Amino acid sequence: MKKWNVASVRAAKGVRKLGCCTAYDACFARLADEAGVPIILVGDSMGMVVLGHSTTLPVKMEETLSATAAVARGAKDAMVVADLPFGSYQCGEDAAMANAVKCLQAGADAVKLEGATPRVCSLIKRLVEAGIPVLAHVGMTPQSVNEYGGFKKQGRTREAADQVMADAKAVEAAGAFAVTLECIPSELAAEITAALRIVTVGIGAGPVCDAQWLVMHDLLGLNETAPSFVKQYAHLAGEVRNAFAKYVGEVADGAFPEK
Ligand code: KIV
Repeated sequence: MKKWNVASVRAAKGVRKLGCCTAYDACFARLADEAGVPIILVGDSMGMVVLGHSTTLPVKMEETLSATAAVARGAKDAMVVADLPFGSYQCGEDAAMANAVKCLQAGADAVKLEGATPRVCSLIKRLVEAGIPVLAHVGMTPQSVNEYGGFKKQGRTREAADQVMADAKAVEAAGAFAVTLECIPSELAAEITAALRIVTVGIGAGPVCDAQWLVMHDLLGLNETAPSFVKQYAHLAGEVRNAFAKYVGEVADGAFPEK
């Protein structure tokens, strides 16, 4: 299998739906890569599922770079996308450019950022002109959690839906090669997918998108509670807990290690 790149992701639109996921270390990146996952996102969801925060906001650039480098070491054929953390691209275009460059130097093939304001679109244009592919993110953008007052579905009224559609068109016009549609009504995601030439990657946005994201911990059942749109393809939390408990028990009663 040839490594996934911007051209092959673009070419998949309307031909093949892409099941994509997050990973945050070399071990899981290698397993996802070997299973054929085309795009691995080093998501800032790391803040919640790995680092134990209640939002994505505390994730630091150094943490993203360290996880990106690990994922890039584990993934061979998958495209690795680094999620620019909160604060790394809101503090001026030059600083944002420098942070995106660091992501590519750590091994990412592209960066993801949230929003579609004129400022974000201007940054997307500049990143793409500099040879840094951008995967955009509209709809529910978790870095705006404080503005929403929680992780709430977006685009529910006609006016709000028109705004999400306008945002998706704006990031496409700015040069993004794909756009995440997070937590929006599935009819709206279908309309956006039909209106755009670029790949839409849905999460909590229904079945019509060109591709899907799942956060790795949700997909594998490492999180016992998950949003309602999640499908757990394994239930590892119980298995992992049982393995730890068995180990503790066997050491306590002398069954491990053997002579
Ligand atoms: O950080 C993340 O995992 C994401 C996905 C939910 C798309 O942004």
